Amino acid sequence: MSEIVVPTAAEMQALGARLAELLQAGDLVLLTGGLGAGKTTLVQGIGAGLGVGGPVVSPTFVIARVHRGGRLPLVHVDAYRLGSVAEVDDLDLDAALEESVTVVEWGEGLVEDLAGDRLEVRLERSSDPADETRRVTLAAVGDRWARADFPS
Ligand SMILES: Nc1ncnc2c1ncn2[C@@H]1O[C@H](COP(=O)(O)OP(=O)(O)O)[C@@H](O)[C@H]1O
Ligand SMILES: [Mg+2]
Repeated sequence: MSEIVVPTAAEMQALGARLAELLQAGDLVLLTGGLGAGKTTLVQGIGAGLGVGGPVVSPTFVIARVHRGGRLPLVHVDAYRLGSVAEVDDLDLDAALEESVTVVEWGEGLVEDLAGDRLEVRLERSSDPADETRRVTLAAVGDRWARADFPS
C-alpha cells in the first residue's frame, strides 16, 4: 500500500507514466474515485508511458477503447454504465485481456473477477474545492504485485 500526493494534472500524468513501467501483459488496474478525481488523467499518463497511439480521452459514449502501438495494448474501460462483470466479458474488445493492460474506471465491485490479481488505485480530491491536490492510494491484490516497486 502506498499513498502519493499529486498536486497537478501534469504530475498525475507523470505518475501514470511511472506506473506504466511496472505493467505487464494481463495486468488489471482498477481506478476508483468520483467524477473529476483524475482517473482519465492517470490513464493518459499510462498510455503515454506505454507509448500507445491516439489520445486517451474519457470514454463517455464508448464503454471501452483499445489503444495499440505501444509496448502493450492498453484496454481503457469506463464501467460507469455497466451493470455486471458479464457485460465486461461481453464487450468483445477485439483485444485479448491476457495480452493487454486493462485499466477500468468505475470498476469497483464489478470487474474484480476478471483477474484475481489486480492493482487498485483510489483517487481522492481534497475536501477544499480550491485545492486541486489529489491523494492517490495504491493497493495491490495478489501474488503478481508482491514484489512490485511502486512509485512514491
Ligand atoms: N492534481 C490533479 N490530478 C488530476 N487531475 C487534476 C489535478 N488537478 C487538476 N486536475 C484536473 O481535474 C480533471 C480530472 O478529470 P478526469 O481525469 O477526467 O477525472 P475522472 O476521469 O476521474 O472523472 C482534469 O480536468 C484535470 O486537468
Ligand atoms: Mg474519466
